[in-house]
Amino acid sequence: MTRAMVVYESVFGDARTIAHAIAEGLSASLPADVVAAAEAPAELGPDVGLLVVGGPNHAFGMPRPSTRESAVQQYGADIADTGRGLHEWLEAVRAPAGIAAAAFDTRGSGHPVLTRMDHASRTEEKLLGKLGARVVTPSEHFSVVDTKGPLVAGEEERARAWGATLAELVASRSVSS
Ligand SMILES: Cc1cc2nc3c(=O)[nH]c(=O)nc-3n(C[C@H](O)[C@H](O)[C@H](O)COP(=O)(O)O)c2cc1C
Repeated sequence: MTRAMVVYESVFGDARTIAHAIAEGLSASLPADVVAAAEAPAELGPDVGLLVVGGPNHAFGMPRPSTRESAVQQYGADIADTGRGLHEWLEAVRAPAGIAAAAFDTRGSGHPVLTRMDHASRTEEKLLGKLGARVVTPSEHFSVVDTKGPLVAGEEERARAWGATLAELVASRSVSS
């Protein structure tokens, strides 16, 4: 049976919570694994039919070594290796051609105009495209109250529902194709 894999990066735990909630939603239709990008496999086997990726917005984009270092210095984050995360994993991983995929991000909720400029999930989608994946649904955004969280009330439930809808979409496409 086709499996789903959710690969995330998370500094303060919010994107991790969202990743697990998405996997719970997915698992109503598909077995789903959740793994941090720093520990994710270098190659996805043919049994993985859906790849979901996501992480926080850092300085209007995906986390990178400089923003991870800022998270350590300004917010006391505990990051084992600031050189490794979702961006670096997506650039190196090998995946089945045409694998279905979707992206999400987490972002602050305080400045709606500013947060519209955030493009972590857009970059995730570009990297998925370079990998040869097929993005099957628009990316989803989940809000945190402050830099270190928590998630805005209701975001975990919304992530679960998004995962469930995504799995139904992928299951119906694989039945009809
Ligand atoms: C260095 C740094 C830069 C950030 N830049 C942005 C930003 O540009 N836009 C935004 O909405 N949130 C920004 N944030 C807040 C993060 O999006 C928030 O910490 C993250 O979504 C929480 O997810 P996590 O708990 O999985 O790390 C930034 C946080 C850090 C540490």
